[in-house]
Amino acid sequence: MSVLNTLAQPFSPAGFPHFHYDQGQLFAEGSKLAEIAQQVGTPCYVYSKAAITQAWQAYQAAIGTRRVLVCYGMKANSNLSILNTFRALGSGFDIVSGGELARVLKVGADPKKIVFSGVGKQTWEIEHAIKVGVKCFNVESASELKRISQVASALKATATISLRVNPDVDAQTHPYISTGLKENKFGIAIEDALQTYQLAATLPGLQVVGVDCHIGSQITETAPYLDALDKLLALIDTLKENGIALKHLDLGGGLGIRYDDETPLAPSLLLSAIFTVIDQRGYSDLELVFEPGRSLVGNAGVLMTTVQYLKHTEARNFAIIDAGMNDLIRPALYQAWHGVLPLDLPKAELATHHYDLVGPVCESADWLAKQRLLDLQEDQVLALDSAGAYGFVMACNYNTRGRPAEVLVDGSTWHIIRTRETFEDMIRGESLP
Ligand code: LLP
Repeated sequence: MSVLNTLAQPFSPAGFPHFHYDQGQLFAEGSKLAEIAQQVGTPCYVYSKAAITQAWQAYQAAIGTRRVLVCYGMKANSNLSILNTFRALGSGFDIVSGGELARVLKVGADPKKIVFSGVGKQTWEIEHAIKVGVKCFNVESASELKRISQVASALKATATISLRVNPDVDAQTHPYISTGLKENKFGIAIEDALQTYQLAATLPGLQVVGVDCHIGSQITETAPYLDALDKLLALIDTLKENGIALKHLDLGGGLGIRYDDETPLAPSLLLSAIFTVIDQRGYSDLELVFEPGRSLVGNAGVLMTTVQYLKHTEARNFAIIDAGMNDLIRPALYQAWHGVLPLDLPKAELATHHYDLVGPVCESADWLAKQRLLDLQEDQVLALDSAGAYGFVMACNYNTRGRPAEVLVDGSTWHIIRTRETFEDMIRGESLP
């Protein structure tokens, strides 16, 4: 996305209606980002509550009166305030660890709206989830099925389960975020599903309630979903013939958003296509579950960062910024694109330099944007857009760098929802023998 070099009418960068420029200053809703940067410092993640709410409502509008449970894929952004925002909207949660379970319980989530995904659930995590009574486990292997059965039996409880099947469809996305292909570690091969359901029926402490899949992330076409749906419905037919009736069908998350010039997959488009197929195949009674993460929070957040040094070399122009791959790893890991928005639009002529925005971390992979035509100055504050999903949650302390602060904007008010990590925070738990 390019920034218009203009001070004319207020405008929003394309795809980000809740961020806008007014008189050359970037705002999140009614809050001026420069003021937040000044008071909180950088690097700092800023999220718009209205943008999250609007993304949530896009799903609700698409769902209408159908029986659909949206379980926010909280791995995308698990700050307690973000989770609380979703809880208040009525969302369920898709969790992948005991830590995520503890987070959602802390904000008062209803366990009956929690689905537990993930390939490596440990015994203590299974125990905790059974005790609180989650809606279901999305089971990813026969071994996991046996372990859940053992844990439930020992607790004299029943665990409700759904099998995550791997439908072997190509989600046409980055290989690192594709999960529905045979060579991926996720799910139970669809050819083995009937046998695994039959095994589940013989094991104590289990109640089979559903089928699940999640084929990948940042998907911008309906076709891969419909391919997966077709295979899952065929499996449901087979199960029915074998006396196994299911209550719900979970199609995972994965809807793509706009980073650069992608056309995002609108929930209305995808869901109406799915509803049509489900109705045609006679399964209107099946409860549907979705687990969107990125599409609910991705475009709702930016990462603010300050230019430290400009370095013009023969081969490249570098802007060395105070955010690095430890704060936002997506570019280093997936060559991901995040647009660069100056907080204060330059008043001068068009930019003449192509810059690589690089962080302070001692790795050549430490870059956040490459070859961007920008007019930059030292001490200038910038915002990297579409950083609301898989931003802070993937941050780490490499190079003993404290993780950034997080701020939630609500109209013209804003709150620090996580303070910047201090040196003391970072060494907590370390000791000298
Ligand atoms: N359900 C399951 C089982 C998942 O594994 C995921 C994401 C989701 C739901 C949510 O998917 P979403 O709607 O956000 O696409 N770190 C990568 C993305 C990894 C996605 C992992 N699984 C990135 O930054 O692009």
